[in-house]
Amino acid sequence: MPAACVIGLQWGDEAKGKLVDLLAPDHDCVVRYQGGANAGHTVVCGSEVYKLHHVPSGILHPSVQNFITPGVVIEPETLLGELKGLEARGIDPRRNLMISERAHLVMPWHLLEDQAMNALVVQGENIGTTLRGIGPCYRDKVGRNFAVRVIDLLQPDLKERLQSICKVKRQLILGLPAGESLVDQLDEDAIVAKAASWAEDLKPLVGDTTNRLLDCVEQGQRLLMEGAQGSLLDIDHGTYPFVTSSNSSGVGISGGSGIPAKWIQRVIGVAKAYSTRVGGGPFPTELHDETGDRIRKLGNEFGTTTGRPRRCGWFDAVAVRYTTRLSGVDSLALMMMDVLGHFDELKICVAYQIDGQEIDVFPCDAETLRRARPVYETLPGWNQDVTGIRSMDDLPEAALNYLKRVSELLGVPVRVVSVGPDREQTMFTDREQLTSLATCAE
Ligand code: IMP
Repeated sequence: MPAACVIGLQWGDEAKGKLVDLLAPDHDCVVRYQGGANAGHTVVCGSEVYKLHHVPSGILHPSVQNFITPGVVIEPETLLGELKGLEARGIDPRRNLMISERAHLVMPWHLLEDQAMNALVVQGENIGTTLRGIGPCYRDKVGRNFAVRVIDLLQPDLKERLQSICKVKRQLILGLPAGESLVDQLDEDAIVAKAASWAEDLKPLVGDTTNRLLDCVEQGQRLLMEGAQGSLLDIDHGTYPFVTSSNSSGVGISGGSGIPAKWIQRVIGVAKAYSTRVGGGPFPTELHDETGDRIRKLGNEFGTTTGRPRRCGWFDAVAVRYTTRLSGVDSLALMMMDVLGHFDELKICVAYQIDGQEIDVFPCDAETLRRARPVYETLPGWNQDVTGIRSMDDLPEAALNYLKRVSELLGVPVRVVSVGPDREQTMFTDREQLTSLATCAE
């Protein structure tokens, strides 16, 4: 039986966590397969707000088995903090969570490297990372010599391995700008001691998620794959170099989890009804005016992981049409529709003007995208509080027109609309169709 996926279609923060939590009970497993503590997935359940960085958003459902697979990079302190935070609120994440022994660890030196490197300017702007050591950890993963994986925590030579890597990292950090002021934070003995305690705490959760998930699909279990970040931050297909270090579009599902692509049959693309971006990089519909400030305030657009104010702008149908195709989306979830309920008119970007030419194809290089001027279509706003609406049919006509236009521009049906953070504030046109894995396998 195949898998369904929830994929962000913009630059992250599309409220994927809320949707995964809602859809999790229709599945046997929820799988987090890329990214790390740079992600901040928020699940709101009544008055309880859960902010998750590594732990999959299916964790609140005891009947659902959750997996962190090889494509994820784990910051052990943060992961253990998340587990403790859940335990303190009466949830036992240890009963239904398995962590891949192949996953890589974000080590203390990665955080220092990220800090030193992020200060450097690339193409006139710095990347503005989340400073969670993501890039340096993935760099070591690909480089191989200095990587530390979950399985290494359980090996008898752990201490020697960490000591030898630590020596190399000291040299490396010293060679970076500001390295001298950072290197003293690299305390070899403390790292060795910490790693031993991580090993103790994490050992019961560690296993071979790859084979276990292959068993699950072959036994006909239903999988829900939880993407982190958004497709425009994809290392290969996003706005490079202003991207994250993993395949955060649909193309990363198979590589990060080990599930063959043939099992992936339902892709739910999640987008906000407007656009946001954190960090550097081109953003054609960004608003540097009062409207942008209003969207930020109304949408509480401040980073879950870093607290940084997010850059805000109108919905960019050129960018999202590109990621809809890239990620193979068949259903669209449009989030934060309530935020747009405070404007007389709304704009959707339907093309770009670049160097005097109008194009509707998303450019493949960041510098060309930086020169893109949005061509807008203006639609009437609904200027109405929609947070209490629970059925799509009850949405104001202007809101329905907005959804219809977005759907036309992207070429996929809108099947989910969200009008607030709570589980209840979500409407489905055809919930069964969204994740009807059994039907589509037949
Ligand atoms: P990194 O993933 O921390 O290396 O950051 C690289 C870029 O991706 C920066 O512009 C970050 O702001 C952005 N980014 C990383 N993770 C997220 C996320 O979960 N939401 C939004 N932006 C993110």
